[in-house]
Parts: sequence; structure tokens; C-alpha cells
Amino acid sequence: MQYFSGRFKEAASELILDFHSSIHFDQRLYRYDIMGSIAHVRGLSKMEIISKEDGCLIEKTLLEILEDIENGKITFSTTYEDIHMNIEKILIDRIGDVGKKLHTGRSRNDQVAVDMRLFTKDEVKKIQSYLIELIEVTTNLGKEHLETYMPGFTHLQKAQPISFGHYMFAYSEMFKRDFIRLNNAFELLDYSPLGCAALAGTTYPIDRKFTAHTLGFKGPTLNSLDGVSDRDYLIEIMSALSIVMMHLSRFSEEIIIYTSNDFGYIELSDAFSTGSSIMPQKKNPDAAELVRGKTGRVYGDLMALLTTMKGIPLAYNKDMQEDKEVFFDAVDTVKGCLQVFVGMVKTLKVKNEVLLLACNDGFINATDVADYLTVRGMSFREAYKITGEIVSYCIDNGLNLETLPLEKYREFSYIFNGDIYETIAIKNCVEKRKSLGGPSKESLLSHLERLNEFLDGA
Ligand code: ARG
Repeated sequence: MQYFSGRFKEAASELILDFHSSIHFDQRLYRYDIMGSIAHVRGLSKMEIISKEDGCLIEKTLLEILEDIENGKITFSTTYEDIHMNIEKILIDRIGDVGKKLHTGRSRNDQVAVDMRLFTKDEVKKIQSYLIELIEVTTNLGKEHLETYMPGFTHLQKAQPISFGHYMFAYSEMFKRDFIRLNNAFELLDYSPLGCAALAGTTYPIDRKFTAHTLGFKGPTLNSLDGVSDRDYLIEIMSALSIVMMHLSRFSEEIIIYTSNDFGYIELSDAFSTGSSIMPQKKNPDAAELVRGKTGRVYGDLMALLTTMKGIPLAYNKDMQEDKEVFFDAVDTVKGCLQVFVGMVKTLKVKNEVLLLACNDGFINATDVADYLTVRGMSFREAYKITGEIVSYCIDNGLNLETLPLEKYREFSYIFNGDIYETIAIKNCVEKRKSLGGPSKESLLSHLERLNEFLDGA
């Protein structure tokens, strides 16, 4: 079949066929294309635009084509540019003139738009299910370490003590927001453009609400120009995916730092590490590095589509075919990274003793010394200054806040008493921080309840 037969006298050049063709990447939309066509054909026969018999034959044949594609019996051809033309061509080859009725009141512009939305809805659900798995992993790991104390950092300098549970729950919150962000984007995209046709709707008495509901959408899009040229939802999903990657990348960075020889806070399982081709001692966190690296790639996918869309006049323009490769790449990359992360975090070993030992240098309980004085009547700024002097004295004399003798403390302020040591014990420093969202076991247990509620409802 010469696709554009009628208007064209010359056949397309091989070069241009190849240039236009998207079949090598859009063939993964075949199932959605067939679903869209079936909804369309049901709508046509419901409104008696085509006969019931023709409608049934088209639907039955489309289902057979679907089965044949799934069983690898069909090879697509670049002669037919994209998945939409390929499937229509196969249909016409199988049932002749009846097949030619499928495209009544429809254009590839609304066809591709509906296919992409259906694809996106499924992919978002898959990505959300991986996010849930990851939230379960960080939450469960955190739950095992509610009292595993470790230094918390600002500027990558030891700051105040927290627990590994507190640290893990921070990631549970980030991934929870990622999940919600995808839900929000899903809400906006869940409308069907089918029936917008090329740009101006159609003269046939189609029932767009019927086709939208048949396909599981909340309803039809409300403007046909917008319906065929809207790619906001892809941009929004890729933006949400970029944020997922940003979170995974920060987590990766910490895994890389915390597994390094100088930290040794955690250890990755051998199954999620790699060796060196020359250095026999090496155990490298390559997977985390690769996730960190792939983050740039997903940002690139987002920027590519934003840039493609920025100068396109309404309605459809061929530029928009460029949405697919970047979007496919973004969803595939994120799915891969999330799966790797689930396995990597689930199997990592937390070095409790190393973490506790790391709390002993860096004066991470200095704020608690200042609070000790403040609670006993000194202004916080005064207490801050005195504590700074104490820290400086300790550094000069090779001491820390635990080993500084009481007489010395009292030279800085007579307020200090023997109970200072109990007050600044790391466990007490953490457990006193009972403020909402804080690291104490009490705070974490109520956070855990909220996380479980979220997971139960997700
Ligand atoms: N392959 C095209 C795409 O992905 C389908 C829509 C083509 N429409 C057109 N008027 N050329 O965008």
C-alpha cells in the first residue's frame, strides 16, 4: 500500500522514509495502539458510523494481530513509518476494504496521543510499585536501627548524633513524595485525546466520553487543538522522574562515601559490588556510581523534550515524534535504577560499632553541652561561646567532651556538675531529641506509624 496514495505522484525516497520512520522505537506501543483502535471502532459502531458486523470483524482481527505480535509472528516495516500505519496496513491486508474503515473520524495525531497516554499510565504505575518496594526497604532497614547511633552531617562535617533509623526514614519520606508527585501528574494526564482527530475534531457523531471510559480514562480532553498537541504530561512525568533520580543520586553519593575505606559505616553485599581488573583488594560501589551517572541522562531526557516543545505552533508538528525516545529512555532508566536500589539497600550491612565509634570524634555533642548550661539559666549565646572555648581547649589537649575532667569543665563554668557526662552521652543526646520528626526512638516510632499508614494506603 502506498500510504499517502492519491495526493502523491512520486514514491518517497528511501532516505526520507528512513528519516521519518519511528517504527524501530514506537513498536513498543503496539498494545496501546490496538487498545485505542478497539475503543475507536467500538465507538464508531455504537454510533452507527460503521456497521456492527464491520466493527466486530475489525475488533476480532485487531485482537488476532495483537496475539501474533506477542508471539513474534509479525515483522514491522519502515515503509509504513510508525506503529499506527503498520498495524493499519496489517489489518487491511487481512480483511481488505473493511479494514480501511478503521481510520474513519480519526487521525494519527489523536491516535499517537492516546497511545502515549495509555503507555504512560502503565509505566507510572510500574515505577510507583518500585518506589513502594524501595520505601518498604528503607523503612524496614530503618526500623531495625532505631537505636543504632551515628553522626549526622552538615557540610559533610560531623554535626549532631542521629540514628541510622532516622537516616533511613529521611529517604522513606523522599521516595514517598516521589510517589505522590507521580500520583499528581497521573491525575492530570488521565484524559483521553481520542476523537480530537487531526486538530479540529470530526464531523462524525462520535462519542468521546464513551471511548475515553472504554479506555479507562476519567474522561475526554476538552479542546481538540490542545488534545493533540499536549505533551505536558510527559514533561511532568520526566520532571518527577528527574527528582526520583536526584534522590537516588544523593543516596548513591552517601553509599559511595559511607562504604569508602575511611568511613566504613556500611558495607555493600558482594552481589551488589564490583572488583577491579588489576587491584585484587578492591570492592567498588559501581552500581551506586552508575545510578549517580544515569541521573544526568534522565535530566537530559527532560531537557530535550522541554526544548523540543518550546517553539512548536499548535497543533501537531512532526517535531513531537521526538518525545518517544527520550521518554522511553527516562522510564527505562528509572525502572532499572529503582530495581537495583531495592536490592542494594536490602542487602547492605550496617556497621553499628563503626557508627557509634564515629560519634566519639567531631564533638557532635557540643550543642548538648551548650544546652546543659542554657537549661541551667545561662543565655544560649553565652553558653555557645563557653562551649566553643571548651571544644578549642579539648582540641589543643587531645581530649574530647567525654574525657575532659570535671574540674576543667568547672573552670569554664561553675554550673557544670558530674551529671554533664550523662547528659552528653550519645544515646541521651539522641533520645532527648523527641521533637516531631527528630531522631529519638519515640519520634521515630510515631514516624514509623505514619510510614506504615502510607504504605497500607498506597
Ligand atoms: N509517528 C508519529 C509521532 O510519533 C505519529 C503521528 C504522525 N502524525 C502526522 N501528522 N505525521 O508523532
